[in-house]
Amino acid sequence: MINYKKFDINDIEFLKSIIDEKRLIFGDKISEDYSHDELGGVENYPDALVKVTSTEEISKIMKYANENNIPVVVRGSGTGLVGACVPLYGGIMLETTLMNKILEIDEENLTVTVEPGVLLMELSKFVEEHDLFYPPDPGEKSATIAGNISTNAGGMRAVKYGVTRDYVRGLTIVLPTGEVMELGGKVVKNSSGYSIKDLIVGSEGTLGVITKAVLKLLTLPKKSISLLVPFENIEKAIDTVPKIIKSKAVPTAIEFMERNTILFAENYLGKKFPDTKSDAYILLTFDGNSKEQVEAEYEIVANLCLNEGAQDVFIVDTDERKASVWSARDVFLEAIKASTTELDECDVVVPRNRVAEFIKYTNEVAKELDVRMPSYGHAGDGNLHIYVCRDDMTEDVWQDKLSKAFDMMYKKAVEFNGLVSGEHGIGYAKRQYMFDQYGAAHIELMNNIKLAFDPKNILNPGKVCQ
Ligand code: LAC
Ligand code: ZN
Repeated sequence: MINYKKFDINDIEFLKSIIDEKRLIFGDKISEDYSHDELGGVENYPDALVKVTSTEEISKIMKYANENNIPVVVRGSGTGLVGACVPLYGGIMLETTLMNKILEIDEENLTVTVEPGVLLMELSKFVEEHDLFYPPDPGEKSATIAGNISTNAGGMRAVKYGVTRDYVRGLTIVLPTGEVMELGGKVVKNSSGYSIKDLIVGSEGTLGVITKAVLKLLTLPKKSISLLVPFENIEKAIDTVPKIIKSKAVPTAIEFMERNTILFAENYLGKKFPDTKSDAYILLTFDGNSKEQVEAEYEIVANLCLNEGAQDVFIVDTDERKASVWSARDVFLEAIKASTTELDECDVVVPRNRVAEFIKYTNEVAKELDVRMPSYGHAGDGNLHIYVCRDDMTEDVWQDKLSKAFDMMYKKAVEFNGLVSGEHGIGYAKRQYMFDQYGAAHIELMNNIKLAFDPKNILNPGKVCQ
């Protein structure tokens, strides 16, 4: 148990001396929203909520908190799924959504510079208006960019374009001491010592506070077409994916989904999906600069799918059809959540040619434990989202079945040379599974990294490792 100073009147006075009162909320006045994240598995309130607006004020607060031994947690939109933004020990919460300015677009260096609270949907819209492209495309478009950086979010287009880390060129961070540090920059190459920037990416707010990011952009592909491919069952659908990868076609995205999940999404959105006759689907996107190039690529894959037993291939090429398919895909999590009383998620990543086997195993687990476990995910990069649903179970039965299901799935992921989390992070909820997978030496190295950044353990304590 860490001994932090009890937050008191002096701390309130300090915050009031540097932040105007309308951006400061204390104690009982703090809304319930700030006590949990999107999944809500763990809850606790901060003593003070500060809606920060600048690097300078974050620096002052960190310096004060460090000197006075007060824990600090950073929060963006609160769309996380592993409790990473929950202030387990109270203290100060820095909320970044007012730091939402796009500071600069540099068309000569192909970068965009943003404040941490810019939402993913605002960023992609803004750069696309300049014919530029920010490829990372996680399902949750209302996440902040610094939230995405903090979990190294992946999303749909990772198959072709990689994940958030691949697009972070530079960061400004505030260390727990209050010191401000610039990492990387607009440079394309960097061979200059340990990459602290890359340690910050994916560190879930435990090493430093991100106050600015320089992101790499690409030119916007002029054409993009999706294929919706129905199969008789989920195993047949997913079995096709490694064959698609092997064919050397380069899809932008390859998602898998089951009929039930699509029906939940239809219900949730009140909008029809183009086809729901089959039990399972893969959804692919191809992009490029000419219609011919995109058509040549998707034709190879369409034929391959038909040879592998696909029941049809629907070409999704109009804006309206694309919106109907992808808006449904983007709300799968919310739709499954709305279908049950409570759920928890397993976000494993396994080698791409073992996805079908893994999903088959999760179906066996669901049967054995008699729990409903819908899944969907990024078949093209091996990252799966499997939901254990509480439905009408009592608390005891639920906890028992949930922990059994998780133990079985995480063990299997390790057996398959996979990892605990592909894109949602470790936070609070998945720590034990990470400890189980990594040996003592690995965890000690992580703890020593944490100590080097934050010797007093005031920044997001109780998350990831420490
Ligand atoms: C998705 C988010 C939950 O894939 O990662 O929709
Ligand atoms: Zn995802």
